[in-house]
Order: sequence, then C-alpha cells, then structure tokens
Amino acid sequence: MRLAILASGSGSNAEKIMEHFAHSSKGEIALVASNKADAGVLARAEKFGVPTFTFTRKEMDAGVLLGKLQEEQIDWVILAGFLLKVPDELIRAFPDRMVNIHPALLPNYGGKGMYGHHVHEAVKAAGDPVSGITIHLVNEHYDEGKIIFQAATAIAPEDSAETIGQKVLALEHQYFAGVIEGLLYL
Ligand code: GAR
Repeated sequence: MRLAILASGSGSNAEKIMEHFAHSSKGEIALVASNKADAGVLARAEKFGVPTFTFTRKEMDAGVLLGKLQEEQIDWVILAGFLLKVPDELIRAFPDRMVNIHPALLPNYGGKGMYGHHVHEAVKAAGDPVSGITIHLVNEHYDEGKIIFQAATAIAPEDSAETIGQKVLALEHQYFAGVIEGLLYL
C-alpha cells in the first residue's frame, strides 16, 4: 500500500507515521504533501528520504494535488494536521481511503474553524473534564466521517489550553500510526 500524508504544519504526527512505516511491510509513505512551502513537515520528510510536494489552495482546488496522488499511485491519504478543506472531487477519488485525526472527542469540538489550539481553547472554556483524539474516515461533511478510533485523557481544572494540547498530542503520537496500519488490513 502506498500512503500519502497531507500536512500543513510542524508534522510531529507525520514524523511518528514515517517512523512506524519505515519498519512495516504493509505500507510505505510514498509522499508528503503540504500547502505551506515552509511547513516543518517537509524537513521531517526529507530526513526520512520521503519525496515531498507543495501546492497552493488554488492548485488543489484545480485538481493539481489529485493529479499528483494519482501519478504516484497512492492508495491511502492520511491527513495529519492538514488545515484546508479537501475538495469533494479529491475525497471522492479515495472512498473510505482517506483518514483524518482530530484533536478532540468528536462530535464535540468539530466543524469549521475547529483546529489546533482553537479546539483546546474551546475545551478549556467549556470546563470539560475530558478531551482526547478522534481518528475518522473523511467524507464530504467536515469532521463527520465514520469514526474509527477514539482515546480520551482526563483534564484537570488547573490544565491550560496549552497543557490540554500537550496531553492530546501525546495520545495522537501514541495511537495514530498503529490505527492506520490496522486499517490497511481491512
Ligand atoms: C494535531 O494536533 C492534529 O490533530 C491537528 O493539528 C495538529 C498537527 O500537529 N489537526 C487538526 O486540528 C485538524 N482539524 P502536528 O503538525 O505536530 O502533527
């Protein structure tokens, strides 16, 4: 199986996934693609010898990214901190073969504008005693695809949005790569 990772930022999840699949016979990370030319994820990919590709939102909307994924014969698309809305045409090209990680327990704290620290700030503002991660398939409705896996972490009253984010990221690093590998067997 040939996997592509789409990421917009630092890429700490992408790094864990590349580490994992460097030792897997089930799949290989064939491409890391980003809409940010200076995203940290690109340097991390180079470290692993994984080819990179950058594109603008306009190019993505015009089908350039889909063309690249098809040219690279990608089987699975992994969204690891990818912050643009994926065009419907691209989603339809990978039915049940596109996976996203969301840094909260969906269906709570999802939807437009809910990404990264915004999510943890909302959890803090709500005084929620629990947060976590959701790994789900991507469909045309933002953050509403089939949930594959969730893991929770307790939030103490003294936690800040920042420490909530650290707890959630630790869960992402612990579980995301293994859950992806499990999906490849289905
Ligand atoms: C992760 O926490 C991921 O869940 C989140 O962005 C972060 C990326 O971190 N994604 C979203 O908020 C998507 N709605 P990373 O670049 O270090 O992997």
